Amino acid sequence: MPIDAVPAGKRFFIHTFGCQMNESDSSRMAEALLRDGWAAAEAPDAADLIVLNTCAIREKAEAKVMSALGRYRLVRAQRGARLGVAGCVAQAEKARLLERVPYLDFVLGPDQISELPRLARATGAREARTDFVGSEEYVFPRADPRGVGAQVSAFVTVMKGCDNVCSFCIVPHTRGREVSRPVPEVESEVARLVAAGVREVTLIGQNVNSYAGGCTFAELVRRVAKVPGLQRIRFTTSHPQDLSPELMRAFAEVPLLMPHFHLPVQSGSSAVLERMRRRYTCDDYRAKIGSLRALVPDLALTSDIIVGFPGETDQDFAATMALVEELRFDNLYSFIYSPRPHTSAMRHLGEWGEVAREVAVRRLERLQARQREISLEKNRAFVGRTVELLVEGPSRTDAAKRMGRTRWNQVVNFEGLAPAGALAQVRVDAASVVALSGVERSHELPPVGVEPSHPSGRRLRVL
Ligand code: 5AD
Ligand code: SF4
Repeated sequence: MPIDAVPAGKRFFIHTFGCQMNESDSSRMAEALLRDGWAAAEAPDAADLIVLNTCAIREKAEAKVMSALGRYRLVRAQRGARLGVAGCVAQAEKARLLERVPYLDFVLGPDQISELPRLARATGAREARTDFVGSEEYVFPRADPRGVGAQVSAFVTVMKGCDNVCSFCIVPHTRGREVSRPVPEVESEVARLVAAGVREVTLIGQNVNSYAGGCTFAELVRRVAKVPGLQRIRFTTSHPQDLSPELMRAFAEVPLLMPHFHLPVQSGSSAVLERMRRRYTCDDYRAKIGSLRALVPDLALTSDIIVGFPGETDQDFAATMALVEELRFDNLYSFIYSPRPHTSAMRHLGEWGEVAREVAVRRLERLQARQREISLEKNRAFVGRTVELLVEGPSRTDAAKRMGRTRWNQVVNFEGLAPAGALAQVRVDAASVVALSGVERSHELPPVGVEPSHPSGRRLRVL
C-alpha cells in the first residue's frame, strides 16, 4: 500500500534485539502488520505502534530492552502509541512484565506472532499472549516475498525451539521444544524468495542438525540446492554433538553450500563442558573439526566461547586459549558467563563457584585480543587474491563503494559497479580484522527477470 494511502494512526516501528531467529520473526511481524493495513514508520517517534522484539540470552541483553522501553515510554505518552514486548524476554517474563512495566500494552511470545495485528488494533485491556504451540498444531509463519523487497540474502526458518539441556542457556525455556518445518514448506518458501530476487538463503533454527521435518538436515540442504536460480546456501546454528558425517559430506558435495561453518565449542576444557552439559569433550570437538577440514580444506570455521563459567579455573581457561591457538577459528563470538533464570548452572552457582567479575573480564580481553590477531592474519592471507562475491548493495562504511560477501562469509567493500545480486570477481588489496577491501575485475549479472527490484539491494532490516 502506498504510504500516503495508510490511514493516520497506523504506522509501526519494530526494534529488534538478538539473533537471526528474532530478525526473521521481526520480518514476519512486519509482514503481518502490512497485510493488516499498517505502514512502516521511519522512526519510533513517528510510530503509533512500537514493538520490541527482545533477547534474553544474557543479562546485558535484557538490560538493553529495559532501557529502550524507558525511551519509548515517552512516545507512548506523547502520541498515544501502543507499546508491546515480543520475543524471548516476553516469553520468559510473560504476564509478569505487564506488572513490572505499567505503561506496557501487550506481551507477545515467539509462538504468537499471528496475534500481533489483533493486539496492535485493540484499544482495550492489557494482554499477555505467551502460550507455546505444540508440534502438531504449530504452523510456521510464511515469509511474504513482497516483504523481501531488495534482499539478496534471506533467512528461512527450518525449525524452532531446542531440546538440548545446556546448563547456561535460557533458550529452551524461551523457545520451547523443537518443532521442524515440513520439507515442502521449506522448499516452496525458498522458491518464492528466489522468484522475488533472493540469491542466498540461510537456513535457520536453534539446532538445525536435529531437523526432523521429513528428512535429515543434510538431505534438506541437498533438496534446497535444487531450487532453480538459487546461488548460495548457508545455515546456522549447529550443536557439535548432533553434527552428522552426512552433513560434513554435504560441505564437500553440495556446490551451493558455502564453505563456512559456525560450530559453537563454548569452552576448551572438558571439565567445563561437562558442567555445561554439552555432551562432548574437547577431543570429540577436535576430531570433528579434523574430519571437516580433511573433507573441505578451505572451510572457514567460527565459534562461540563463554568465559568465566562457574568453577572455571586458570587451567580451564588456559585450555580454552590453547584450543583457540590450535584450531585457529576465522572468527569467534565470546562472552562472559551470565547467570540466567530457569537454568541449572544458575542453581549450581554456589556449589561450582562464581568466577570473580575482574577475572572473567581479564580472560575475555585476553581471548579477544588473541582472536583479533588470528582473524587479521587469516584475512591478510587474502590480499592479492581475486575472490568471488555475492554483491549485496552499497557499502555500509563507505558510500562510494559496493559491498559483497565471499564464499567464506567475509564482508568485502570494493570499488566497482556490480549490482545487488550479481556475482563479482574482486581483487582484494587490503584486510582488517572485520573486513576486506578491493577492486572489481568483472561481474556476472543475475539471471534476467529475477534481478532484485530495488537499486540499493540492501538487506531489509526491520529496526
Ligand atoms: N551467558 C553467556 N553467554 C551465553 N550464551 C548462551 N547463554 C549464555 C549465558 N548464560 C552464548 C553461547 C551461545 C551464544 C549464542 O550465546 O556461547 O552459543
Ligand atoms: Fe536471544 Fe536466544 Fe532468544 Fe535468539 S533465541 S533472541 S539469542 S535468547
